[in-house]
Amino acid sequence: MTIRGGFMGRLQSGDEVTYDLRSLDRRAIALIARYLRPRRTRLLLAGLAMLGVTATSLLLPYLSKVIVDEYIAVGDLGGLALFSVLYLALNGLFWLGSYWQGYLSAWVGQQVIYDLRRDLMHQVMRQSPDFVEQERVGQIASRLTNDVNSLSDAVSAGLLNLVGDLLLMVGIVIVMALIDWVLTLVTLVAVPIVMLSMAYLGKQMRRAYRDVQQEIARVNAGVEQGVSGMRVVQSLGQESFTVEQFQELSLRNMKANLRVSLLFAAVFPTMTITNMLGIALVLSFGGLRVIQGLTTVGTLLAFLAYIQRFFGPLRELSLIYNNLQAAAAALDRVVDYVDREPDVREPESPRLPEGGFQGRVVLRDLTFGYEPDEPVLKELSLTIEPGETVALVGATGAGKSTLAALLTRLHDVQQGAIELDGVDVRDLPLDALRSNVLLVSQDVFLFPDTIRENIRYARPEATDEEVEQAALRAQAHDFITRLPLGYDTQVGESGALLSGGQRQLVALARALMVEPRVLILDEATANVDAHTEALIQQAMAAIGRDRTMIVIAHRFSTLRSANRILVLEDGQLVGEGTHEALIESNPVYQRLYQRQWAESAAETQD
Ligand SMILES: Nc1ncnc2c1ncn2[C@@H]1O[C@H](COP(=O)(O)OP(=O)(O)O)[C@@H](O)[C@H]1O
Ligand SMILES: [Mg+2]
Repeated sequence: MTIRGGFMGRLQSGDEVTYDLRSLDRRAIALIARYLRPRRTRLLLAGLAMLGVTATSLLLPYLSKVIVDEYIAVGDLGGLALFSVLYLALNGLFWLGSYWQGYLSAWVGQQVIYDLRRDLMHQVMRQSPDFVEQERVGQIASRLTNDVNSLSDAVSAGLLNLVGDLLLMVGIVIVMALIDWVLTLVTLVAVPIVMLSMAYLGKQMRRAYRDVQQEIARVNAGVEQGVSGMRVVQSLGQESFTVEQFQELSLRNMKANLRVSLLFAAVFPTMTITNMLGIALVLSFGGLRVIQGLTTVGTLLAFLAYIQRFFGPLRELSLIYNNLQAAAAALDRVVDYVDREPDVREPESPRLPEGGFQGRVVLRDLTFGYEPDEPVLKELSLTIEPGETVALVGATGAGKSTLAALLTRLHDVQQGAIELDGVDVRDLPLDALRSNVLLVSQDVFLFPDTIRENIRYARPEATDEEVEQAALRAQAHDFITRLPLGYDTQVGESGALLSGGQRQLVALARALMVEPRVLILDEATANVDAHTEALIQQAMAAIGRDRTMIVIAHRFSTLRSANRILVLEDGQLVGEGTHEALIESNPVYQRLYQRQWAESAAETQD
């Protein structure tokens, strides 16, 4: 079935499940070893428990043979009692061993997952924001949830079980051969039949599972896209079209799941029937040998038990292999994340400005582009003195936001340098840089929490009083206290329950929590009403008194309050000075002024 046009037609399924185990490289194994090392004691204990389980599994059938042949057959009551107790004791041991193997390996597995997940999150947080755009949020989330889960299955139970199963199978063949090698050979005839049928079913299952995973990924992505685009969907009146598209994805998911169920329905009877085949072989051929006096009834009994214990793991192996494949694929992807070096790195030998942070910003021949050969900013040179307020103006796409991002080192420049108080920003410890140069970006992000916690986020240990102090200085206090729940008002998903202007004020208050030496406001007044604009203006005047401010200006009022206006065009600085000077002589500024501010300037000057 094909999905016709529309956005859902282009949904990518993220994760491939088929994976060749042989291509698992050294990095992946080293990674697992690195996480297992701190847990080696418990892992070792789990391994010992596993050996105990394997040994008792091997001994129990043999013991039943001894009981039958050497005590029951000759009527030795005393020996029978003794061996029955031994048999029970071994069973107890088996229980204990299985229990500890299961518990310890789950413990190790969960600890590994716990550590790994923490490190992955840390890794993601170290990356530059581009990373999220390349990888997409859904895919990153899938790494930290689905991939880590399938690793957990493999690491916790899978590997140890696999080793245990293999050991047990080899042990069983050896013991059986020691007891009666002819009967062993005949019995093993059933092995290739079991293996072939399970391998066939296993392969089909793998394919079916892969389809299910792909389809569920599409359904997830469909929900995500439909819901996050809900405003657009509704405003275009395309609800039913979207639901229809979603139904198609859902249908594919259903079909894939049905195929898995069908296969599963075949697996159980196949397992039973192959089991029966082994039993039939032992009973018929073994029975013949008992009648001929070539072997004993006890041996027959032991073989029946061994064959059961042998086929179980044999069947499991083909299924475990499945999980291992999924885990290996997951591991491969996870390794990429763990090893990923962020574009923006901590300096190797960090430096701090000698006289402390004052807020002097110097750009030296700075060139930067998102693509290597397409510079967005070209050879910018500029000095901003501590305490100065400069306004940055330029047409859309001129590179204003890019410059703001560079100042807080969200990217690194390709040529030239940015210095803060005489130190290249690449030599400053990242946390020192980012608590001294703070950007309130044009699209404010708020966490779905209360206003209070959103402001406090910048300094989690701050008191309620400090939060309100910051809100006061950001001129946000008034509107907050007018809300029924005040500071405890929930802002909703991405702050959707507040207006654009209110979000800006909250973001400004949040920025003030850290007292940055340099504050950059990127079009803070772009989407706000006149009242909020006035509030922001007022706040800026107060805040700007004791710090450097770089204001990417959207409104004319902002320009008036700046010490200096910088005019940016196509990534180049084409003018600087006061409004009066620029409007006299700078054609780029004149054009901008005519287009954007002439009307509002006329209003405010009245
Ligand atoms: N993350 C990005 N990846 C690639 N190109 C970008 C990115 N962000 C901005 N650009 C491009 O860089 C140029 C400058 O953008 P920007 O700094 O946002 O301009 P302004 O803020 O002045 O409107 C634009 O051509 C824009 O398309
Ligand atoms: Mg911008």
